[in-house]
Amino acid sequence: MRFDILTIFPGMFESVLGETIIKRARESGRVEFLLHDIRDFARDKHHSVDDSPYGGGAGMVMMAGPLCESIESVPREGRSLRVLLTPQGEPFTQKTAREFASLDQLILVCGRYEGVDERARRVVAEREVSIGDYVLSGGEIAAMAVIDAVTRLIPGVLGNSESISEESFESGLLEYPHYTRPEEFRGEKVPPVLLTGNHAEIARWRREQAIMRTKERRPDLFERFDRSVDKEGRNR
Ligand code: 6GU
Repeated sequence: MRFDILTIFPGMFESVLGETIIKRARESGRVEFLLHDIRDFARDKHHSVDDSPYGGGAGMVMMAGPLCESIESVPREGRSLRVLLTPQGEPFTQKTAREFASLDQLILVCGRYEGVDERARRVVAEREVSIGDYVLSGGEIAAMAVIDAVTRLIPGVLGNSESISEESFESGLLEYPHYTRPEEFRGEKVPPVLLTGNHAEIARWRREQAIMRTKERRPDLFERFDRSVDKEGRNR
């Protein structure tokens, strides 16, 4: 899979792309990252990429020219999608991540300032996504979240020990609590069921815990989960 990232701050991506799972995925050739500096497509001598809004008001707007020209300089490969990162976008979820992971190319456009010129938005954004209901100063950090969530779903990127299927959101539930050595820490023992070796019992306990946690912490998720579970406790 190929990621093309359009930004006025390409340097922000260096450490994120150079570490952890993403680094491994790159080294194994499963993913490729290409950074494009929108400022390279600025037209004036000051290399401007933003200007004040028509109609007045606070802040600056990303100009249409450099944005459109930078995205049009990115060749499209296979199943490809242009995605604008913006707080006005649809919520980015695990489902969106799975969908993006099935593509050949994801072109991520990082907005800055108050927003992007509406005429450019129509060209650069086949989809618009937001990573949550809060405002970031630009789409870069949101793009990194999307890159991480998508990359780890690409076949072969995670090792055997890092299973996706039991993770939060894949089942519609938050994860159950985890424990590792020592057996007792500051007077608190590991739940005895985890030491029994009885895999069916352990699975039942974990599912109960996951349900309790979800109900308590994320009633919105729980409501959806509860409606999708049949009498045997399996997901429909
Ligand atoms: Cl995608 N961009 C910005 N600027 N702020 C955000 C966001 C994106 N998602 C949540 N907040």
